[in-house]
Amino acid sequence: MELLCIQSQEHPELPLAELNAVMECEDIIADIEVITEGLIVLKNISEDNLNPYYEILTKRLGYTHEIHELIRRSDADNFEGDISSIDWSEYIDESFAVRVKRFHAKIDTVATERKAGSLILENCDDIKVNLTKPKSLVRIVAFEDKFFIAIERIKLNKKHFEESKPHKRPFFYPGSMNPKLARCMVNLSRVKEGELLLDPFCGTGGILIEAGLIGCKVVGSDIYWKMKNGTSINLDYYGITDYRTFNLDVRELKMYEKVASVVTDPPYGISTSTGDIDGDDIFKEFFHAIYDNMKDDAYLCMASPHYVDLNPMVDEVGFEIVEQYGIKMHRSLTRIISVIRKKLD
Ligand SMILES: C[S@@+](CC[C@H](N)C(=O)[O-])C[C@H]1O[C@@H](n2cnc3c(N)ncnc32)[C@H](O)[C@@H]1O
Repeated sequence: MELLCIQSQEHPELPLAELNAVMECEDIIADIEVITEGLIVLKNISEDNLNPYYEILTKRLGYTHEIHELIRRSDADNFEGDISSIDWSEYIDESFAVRVKRFHAKIDTVATERKAGSLILENCDDIKVNLTKPKSLVRIVAFEDKFFIAIERIKLNKKHFEESKPHKRPFFYPGSMNPKLARCMVNLSRVKEGELLLDPFCGTGGILIEAGLIGCKVVGSDIYWKMKNGTSINLDYYGITDYRTFNLDVRELKMYEKVASVVTDPPYGISTSTGDIDGDDIFKEFFHAIYDNMKDDAYLCMASPHYVDLNPMVDEVGFEIVEQYGIKMHRSLTRIISVIRKKLD
């Protein structure tokens, strides 16, 4: 069986990297077919695995906007016949809407929606069209001259990333990253539900909120009491209960338990924001402090500015960089997202 994923196109690599990381840590067995940027099919999923995989992916992914069960692959010549030959009673419950999305296809989306909708109505009893609140959503994706005919079984909570933007939280302080990127970084760290994730520069708790929402136990610390306190306020607000927060300098970090994942956005730029640690030394200090607090197979996912070379620093401590992605912020700043782990002996 197959799942059709429609991903964000706001970054050329991160959505796919995030999907790969979640599949790896959740042991999802499927082949990935990249149709084009933003359109992915997960193939060769066994029938038993389809629902559990569908649930995990909709719960976890940040840069994937929609996931559907793929019913049929079609093309321009066979589209109408294929729509008519599907037993829609297996997929549609009372009311439905057809929505068409195009990727490099020159079709009239409204006309295609109408045509498909009327063919479905003709071939299935006791259903009606409801364009505003359909119980079932038929998603058709057109790519070049191909059509992917799919049904949405589980809705992704698309509103979450809008509603959890930093300025909408009860405790706000400038510098918190956008929640989709925070979720993606949590996923890149390959952490699983129930495992312990640490952010030692927690600020307003943006990363911890995303980790808490996918079911991780979270720990945050920050050199400023005000930030540690703000993180607790924000975690409470999002209903996250399994957390601890501490007020400490990263150099003093000594965890009560080794963590399964570290995800963080260290401060950079001015020394006043780093607890008086000079320039890039904050990164060196951080790597030294974090190493012994991580399990041997734990991953660290962090952000840094392009002008800081992390390679010699991680190497000195015994880490290695396994993945890196650049996000252009403006003309003179690219943010680098690195996935790091302990060197294997
Ligand atoms: C870029 S912000 C993190 C933003 C955070 N991801 C959020 O969602 O709000 C960096 C944080 O590191 C904290 N910080 C600076 N120096 C530190 C140090 N030496 N030890 C621990 N925390 C420190 C700052 O107070 C700041 O809150």
